[in-house]
Amino acid sequence: MFAERALTAVMRPLSRRYTAHGPVDDAQLPAPTPGKTYLLYAHVPFCERLCTYCSFNRFLFNEDIATRYFADLREEMRIAAGLGYRFGSLYVGGGTPTILVDELCKTIDLARELFHIREVSAETSPNQIGPELAARLEGRVDRMSVGVQSFSDVLLRQMDRHEKYGSGRELFEIISNSRGLFHSLNVDMIFNFPSQTEQMLRHDARLLKETGCNQTTFYPLMASPEQARALSQQIGRVDMTREKEFYDIIDDELTGPFEASSAWTFSKEKGGMIDEYIVDYPEYLGIGSGAQSFLDGRLYTNTFSLTDYAERVHAGKLTVTQVGHQYSQRDMMRYRFVTDLFGLRLDKRRFLADFGTPVERGLWGEVSFMRAVGGFDRDDDECFTLTRTGRYLLVVMMREMLTGSNRLRDEARAALPAAERALLLDEPAAAAIADLAI
Ligand SMILES: C[S@@+](CC[C@H](N)C(=O)[O-])C[C@H]1O[C@@H](n2cnc3c(N)ncnc32)[C@H](O)[C@@H]1O
Ligand code: SF4
Repeated sequence: MFAERALTAVMRPLSRRYTAHGPVDDAQLPAPTPGKTYLLYAHVPFCERLCTYCSFNRFLFNEDIATRYFADLREEMRIAAGLGYRFGSLYVGGGTPTILVDELCKTIDLARELFHIREVSAETSPNQIGPELAARLEGRVDRMSVGVQSFSDVLLRQMDRHEKYGSGRELFEIISNSRGLFHSLNVDMIFNFPSQTEQMLRHDARLLKETGCNQTTFYPLMASPEQARALSQQIGRVDMTREKEFYDIIDDELTGPFEASSAWTFSKEKGGMIDEYIVDYPEYLGIGSGAQSFLDGRLYTNTFSLTDYAERVHAGKLTVTQVGHQYSQRDMMRYRFVTDLFGLRLDKRRFLADFGTPVERGLWGEVSFMRAVGGFDRDDDECFTLTRTGRYLLVVMMREMLTGSNRLRDEARAALPAAERALLLDEPAAAAIADLAI
């Protein structure tokens, strides 16, 4: 698709610019804006298995290290509270936040004690979801997101998930039996994996409908350069030319029982919470190793090193070690354009009130492009909404923005101390773990 190629070519250097960071020693976060409510993101970077495609900051689970990490995470939450921020929502992401459920409960309880949290989202994996987990998290987590990725055994094996998280049949049973356990249950899927065929994708979407879950997010495979290289050697090339066709298949299969609630999330209930919290909370503060904050037009990234993270928290300091450049007014307008449209609607009057210029003038090139390719559905005095093509183009924009962050994580991983790099392997040497003085 020409529009996808053109957009990817424009977005790649832009995403590099927007995610470019410089190291800092003792970073300060800006003071909160009075009256504003932010989202608190807490990162739990541990998994029982490291999936081949996964680009998040995650390490192989070790109980002692993870227990100490959770305690530090709570300490960092207290440091954030001391800055005067007010948080309306908490998102606990990973990794696998439910890996130590008692620790997760203590962490959510502390957030509720410190802030007026209205809703909590968390992530889990298929081997942990079930009635027991739901009972522990009742009254604590409103929205649970679980990674399935695919029901195809071929793909699950290639993703290194079959053995740990179960076959397609088993995953289908797990998700079907989890229906109704949480106020909202989101199932993560991945499309455009190198060996995935149209038939596999249709099969995935159909089985997903049968599970009875009330929300699903279909992520396009987002491979950093390093992952794309590894995937093409082991499985096959990531082929972007199929992505739009695949998106249309997902949309055809899901529309009806589901309705798009963001460019890549489909929900049964209108106005449900979605994974991409930047739609509802363009500004957020991240705690935990590798977490990011976006505050006052600047991106902040916390240390990826678990040892450094612990040392900073014990010294009563923030854990930010990299700071991005200050977004200009134009950058902020673009950020608003992408986040609002990713949530399927841009309010033109709010844009004018916030930036002092109509969106058509402030972002003439972006608006003209979307009009020329038939991306807008409603385009009146009030708002822009999206056609299916428009939604797909927002997937492309978000894919490129997140791929920029993946690149950053690749670089951070390469710079980790040797002992910590051992936890990036599925079978690290015991001696290497013993060396970790965290
Ligand atoms: C941080 S994971 C948490 C879920 C949980 N750990 C699990 O895997 O079951 C959130 C989701 O991100 C998605 N994801 C991870 N790496 C990705 C990549 N490179 N491209 C696209 N989606 C990805 C997967 O769908 C995954 O379920
Ligand atoms: S996809 Fe989930 S389980 Fe797999 S490595 Fe990433 S965070 Fe961990």
